[in-house]
Amino acid sequence: MSRLPVFVVLVLAAPVFAQNVPPPPLQQPVTVASPPIAEPPAPAAAVSREEGLGAWARIYEVASHPRCQNCHVGADNIPMWSGPTYGRSRPHGMHISAGESRIGAEYVPCGACHAQLVEGAGQAPHMAPQVATYWQLAPVEAAWFGKSSAEVCAQLSDTDLNGGRDQNDLAEYLRDDAVSGGMTQWGWNPGGGREPAPYSLEEFANDILAWGAAGFPCAEG
Ligand code: HEC
Ligand code: HEC
Repeated sequence: MSRLPVFVVLVLAAPVFAQNVPPPPLQQPVTVASPPIAEPPAPAAAVSREEGLGAWARIYEVASHPRCQNCHVGADNIPMWSGPTYGRSRPHGMHISAGESRIGAEYVPCGACHAQLVEGAGQAPHMAPQVATYWQLAPVEAAWFGKSSAEVCAQLSDTDLNGGRDQNDLAEYLRDDAVSGGMTQWGWNPGGGREPAPYSLEEFANDILAWGAAGFPCAEG
């Protein structure tokens, strides 16, 4: 009986990547190569805690990678840079602050340089990356920069802090982001000689589904 909710979740999870949803119309005629979304492995049985912890370890590898955490920063509102020539993460050059708006409305808007995708732009080293959606910091509640595995695990599994999303909604967020050429998929296709986040968007989404089905276990420490 106690397994029933997990089974229900898995049944709901299946269609997230099974449907071939057509991309929404973009405002400008841009070409965005949407990464193909793989179907998740058929959920045969409940996902064990051990498998869930394995999925979590991979999720944290991604979340703590510079391509992801440089935008998922805390209340100082300062994006980070760690391109190929910087060695380690440092505050965004040119005294950029996103302000409490997280889009730079109080200072210089992110979109002044991170313009919405112009084909081929932003791909050369040291060019401002561009995506098809409006470039901005992740919400302050979703701060990952410098956070431990336990801290990010607590945030990402808490609907008060993750935008009110269960694992199906998180997977759907990733699918929608990929289809609209958004900021998350950029982390796996950063261009400019930058190292992509590990694994793939599809593997990340499937790990989220498995981690949620296992009850969002967090590694100790
Ligand atoms: C350019 C900035 C930027 C980058 C880079 C970025 N994100 Fe985000 N991320 C955002 C914004 C903005 C949101 C909030 C979107 C929303 O809630 O609708 C967000 C939300 C999310 C969410 C929803 C859950 C939550 O806690 O808010 C996930 C999951 C996520 N990002 C994963 C990633 C991963 C994985 C990477 C790297 C591969 C990444 N992001 C890179 C800006 C970014
Ligand atoms: C004055 C122009 C300018 C503005 C405004 C600007 N950026 Fe950037 N940004 C850049 C440039 C140029 C790069 C590429 C730097 C490099 O690779 O050497 C960059 C790179 C980045 C990166 C990628 C860093 C990495 O290592 O993956 C992130 C994240 C970022 N900016 C976030 C923001 C956010 C959020 C805002 C708004 C608060 C913003 N930027 C505003 C010019 C700008």
